[in-house]
Amino acid sequence: MSLPTEAGDLEAFLSSAKSICVLTGAGVSQESGVPTFRGADGLWRKFRAEDLATPEAFARDPLLVWEWYAWRRELIHRAQPNAAHMALVELEDRIAAQPGGRFTLLTQNVDGLHERAGSRNVIRLHGSIWRLRCTRCDTEREDRAVPLDPFPPRCACSALLRPGVVWFGEPLPEREWAQAAQAAAQADLFLVVGTSALVQPAASLPLIAKQNRARLVEINPDPTPLSDLADCVVRGKAAETLGKLRKASEPRP
Ligand code: OAD
Repeated sequence: MSLPTEAGDLEAFLSSAKSICVLTGAGVSQESGVPTFRGADGLWRKFRAEDLATPEAFARDPLLVWEWYAWRRELIHRAQPNAAHMALVELEDRIAAQPGGRFTLLTQNVDGLHERAGSRNVIRLHGSIWRLRCTRCDTEREDRAVPLDPFPPRCACSALLRPGVVWFGEPLPEREWAQAAQAAAQADLFLVVGTSALVQPAASLPLIAKQNRARLVEINPDPTPLSDLADCVVRGKAAETLGKLRKASEPRP
């Protein structure tokens, strides 16, 4: 099958790369029915981040913040990984099977859909909505219960638990950041999928890759601050674009 020119370039880049790093954002889960933050139906168009996604907001009104996260947990619980998530699993399998092949998936998403699809080498830059962390003793645990019971959830030490995500004003987890920066520096192809590339420091990872001579590819229906730096831009949706590539790489009869 023939693909549009940019997608054709993408196919060629993908088949010649040995060390691939992918950075994903909310757009990759959009076709699974999970809303983005800044798009047309974006969460930050209806809600104020200052009221829901900062340590100060949680200190002020933990129940309000928890209600918002409980709503998102329920929404994500019902969602299924889409063709973009699946295509990234297949890409990882293919690259990891090559001698010296390296594949790292860096995600800003907290929904866990990459892991549910089967991606293995995933670095979660902004934490996970399925992890809960104690506000007193820092103990962390996985909890996929929907709805959460008791609500709001409490630690064995009786203190309130908080969502295990990174909020505005908080640093990224150190180990994940170091691994992400290293993977970006070592990549020969850096794929940016479904992120507005507006939130730092995640948005600087493609620049680290570019400074280290990686080819940069963007898949996004809309322009971002990275578009002008990219070696190839595919103006399309993630599941549609990566889904087509999956079909294109299927063995022909
Ligand atoms: P944004 O909502 O900022 O950006 C989503 C991007 O996905 C936009 O550039 C859209 O054009 C694009 N998009 C929409 N639908 C798409 C589709 N079907 N396929 C591909 N792209 C699509 O989300 P992020 O960049 O992930 O942090 O936002 C970064 C961080 O800001 C999030 O991790 C979150 C948010 O506030 C925190 O909560 C701390």
